[in-house]
Amino acid sequence: MNFDLSEEQLAVQQAARDFAQTELLPGVIERDTHQKFPTEQIKKMGELGFMGMMVDPKYNGGGMDTVSYVLAMEEISKVDASASVCMSVNNSLVAWGLEKYGTEEQKKKYLTRVATAEAIGAFCLSEPEAGSDATSQRTTAEDKGDHYLLNGTKNWITNGNSAGVYLVIAQTDAEKKHKGINALIVEKGMPGFVIGKKEDKMGIRGSDTHSLMFTDVKVPKANRIGEDGFGFSFAMNTLNGGRIGIASQALGIAAGAYELALKYAKERKAFGKTLSQHQAIQFMLADMATKIDGARLLIHRAALLKDQKKDFVKAAAMAKLYASQIAQEVTTDAVQIHGGYGYVKEYHVERLMRDAKITQIYEGTSEIQRMVISRELLR
Ligand code: CAA
Repeated sequence: MNFDLSEEQLAVQQAARDFAQTELLPGVIERDTHQKFPTEQIKKMGELGFMGMMVDPKYNGGGMDTVSYVLAMEEISKVDASASVCMSVNNSLVAWGLEKYGTEEQKKKYLTRVATAEAIGAFCLSEPEAGSDATSQRTTAEDKGDHYLLNGTKNWITNGNSAGVYLVIAQTDAEKKHKGINALIVEKGMPGFVIGKKEDKMGIRGSDTHSLMFTDVKVPKANRIGEDGFGFSFAMNTLNGGRIGIASQALGIAAGAYELALKYAKERKAFGKTLSQHQAIQFMLADMATKIDGARLLIHRAALLKDQKKDFVKAAAMAKLYASQIAQEVTTDAVQIHGGYGYVKEYHVERLMRDAKITQIYEGTSEIQRMVISRELLR
């Protein structure tokens, strides 16, 4: 075991930390309040290489490893979890999915633009009646020879309006159940594709989450990812890696709240001494730091296994389950340490507490992670 990060990994971590402080921190409260997508910031993240970190440089990516990616995700998430969910979906679902399973033509046409966020990616699996139960897809992709006719509704889609490239999962042959599902690349502006309502969310309010409607959208066969019927496997395999990204988002949210609480505890005085001199606060900080380190170790193990091309399914699910759980606990404690100040927007921790909740829901709820873990244990 080697816990040392390479010089390159440390440089990536520092670059992400600097970017978060200089470009994301100013305006993060306003974006949260007004549900404003960080358009300019994401554009810059694309230019700096944060949006296609693991993609091969020949498709405009950074050619980095998953460990570098989780380090950057943690730093960005400490400050702005709305920007980091856009980054996570773009990197680990859309870019990774296209690179791993797409044709050369699809990579040249779509991945090259997704990797720089010239066209942001969206991953469209969830439906009004298919969230955790993802095999129950109602969206249909009827085989019409040289194209599919896409009909249906997708819900809670991250980057719903800001994206340019959408990976849409749809049922082609209901009799074959999950083996009759396809993954199609849909472009914004295709006739019949309408962007629906924007969700008014509890947290990650700067990210744009929309429903999407497809009515007789003609999607060329050339836009199908993989063989006919591969769509559900595509979604599952892609989500396995995506969960490492969301786990690092949860970690970053927790670590960001912890760093603010630590600083505040050293400055704020009560009963004639700083909060940090009270044992009750010292023990809270000790628990917070221990949980954060535990989550980080689980995440780095999952990332390392993925980089080593070993089975990482259980490790990724464990990392997401644990990191999202401790993000709840740590952000709640950070608000508690801040007292009344913690409950107002100016001190950031209330936002981090609201942002933390979604990490237990998207890319597989905590209950789904427990299903994945226990199935692996009992296999
Ligand atoms: N990795 C790879 N393959 C998997 C898998 C995994 N983790 N889990 C299941 N599969 C495969 C199975 O092997 C099976 O394939 P075969 O028949 O070829 O063997 C197929 O998928 C169906 O599996 P099950 O029979 O186990 O199906 P199920 O209905 O009992 O359970 C599930 C499936 C695991 C619960 C799945 O529906 C699931 O993961 N649900 C959660 C969906 C999810 O994570 N949604 C997130 C939305 S995307 C999002 O949030 C992005 C965003 O914007 C932030």
